[in-house]
Amino acid sequence: MGHPTSGCVITVMVVARRRSQKLMDFISGIFLPVLLGGLGVFGLFRLLRWIEARAYLKDAVVVITGATSGLGKECAKAFHAAGSKLVLCGRNGERLQDVLQELSTAADPSKNAHKHHAVVFDLSDIKAVMNAAKEILKCVDHVDILINNAGISYRGTIVDTGMEVDRKVMETNYFGPIALTKALLPSMIERRKGHIVTISSVQGKFGMPFRSAYAASKHATQAFFDCLRAEVEQFNIEVTVVCPGYIQTNLSLNAVTSDGSQYGVIDKTTSEGMAAAAVAQELLHAVGEKKKEVLVAGFLPSLAVYFRSLCPALFFTIMARRARKEKKVKGS
Ligand SMILES: NC(=O)c1ccc[n+]([C@@H]2O[C@H](COP(=O)([O-])OP(=O)(O)OC[C@H]3O[C@@H](n4cnc5c(N)ncnc54)[C@H](OP(=O)(O)O)[C@@H]3O)[C@@H](O)[C@H]2O)c1
Repeated sequence: MGHPTSGCVITVMVVARRRSQKLMDFISGIFLPVLLGGLGVFGLFRLLRWIEARAYLKDAVVVITGATSGLGKECAKAFHAAGSKLVLCGRNGERLQDVLQELSTAADPSKNAHKHHAVVFDLSDIKAVMNAAKEILKCVDHVDILINNAGISYRGTIVDTGMEVDRKVMETNYFGPIALTKALLPSMIERRKGHIVTISSVQGKFGMPFRSAYAASKHATQAFFDCLRAEVEQFNIEVTVVCPGYIQTNLSLNAVTSDGSQYGVIDKTTSEGMAAAAVAQELLHAVGEKKKEVLVAGFLPSLAVYFRSLCPALFFTIMARRARKEKKVKGS
């Protein structure tokens, strides 16, 4: 007769083997087919969305403001590669022609045979914006996608900043884009088709010290286009608000300061930001997939967006500490 514990061990082993057999049967008979089927359906769904997005962008008439540099220029390249017909806008005609030249030499002409256009105007001059809208509609007859990208940034303390600087930032970042939008909207409503894209910022979601005019203009932008989205959905018009974090562009270099002069510095945060081409690709996908809003930012700026809503008191304390620290660094 064997030892009683060896009988127990054998029983435990038999039970364990049966259980592991049952688990294997479950994995191979139910779990794996369901998982693979699910992945297949998801893959097919993504493929269909990708095909749909490509068709949406191909031959679409796309107006891009601020196309002379940074994100706007990269958007021009991305939409050109997607087969769209472009109207590039900016203040400097020569630089717009340079971008057009770059597009015509860089890409395979068989992929985009459209003749693109350039329209020169200053967004802070509302009369010029209205005339530009007429010129755009004369050039291309209709607009499928308007990308309100152009903008300027600001650095300064509220107490030292003259109202004319606040106005300049608001004219460029808010009044100009909404004037252009309003001027092109009736033709979109008439066609029951159109898409308005606006580049806001994570600073359209929270305010930071020494960025008051910029953050205010982006908050106003965010609110305006959220209202617009609700109003025009019934006319089959899409609104996408893009909220990037830091991007490697000339934005801080061109920023205005308290006295209206140019800041002239590329901040460390900007130079360490996302590549403009990568943000343009995210924007292209968001537009193709008709997303309502996208946050294109690194971990910290994205965290700040949620932190501002969920823990406002702590967020304000951190911002006040940051203001004191930055002021000390600048020695003011
Ligand atoms: N860079 C970032 O870290 C960052 C982060 C979040 C959001 N954004 C937003 O991204 C957008 C693009 O900026 P960017 O980073 O690409 O900066 P950028 O390289 O300085 O480009 C700004 C563009 O806006 C145009 N612009 C400026 N003032 C104008 C005016 N009054 N009328 C017409 N066009 C004007 C500029 O044209 P000119 O050649 O005539 O100057 C330029 O093409 C802006 O809305 C900005 O707020 C940028």
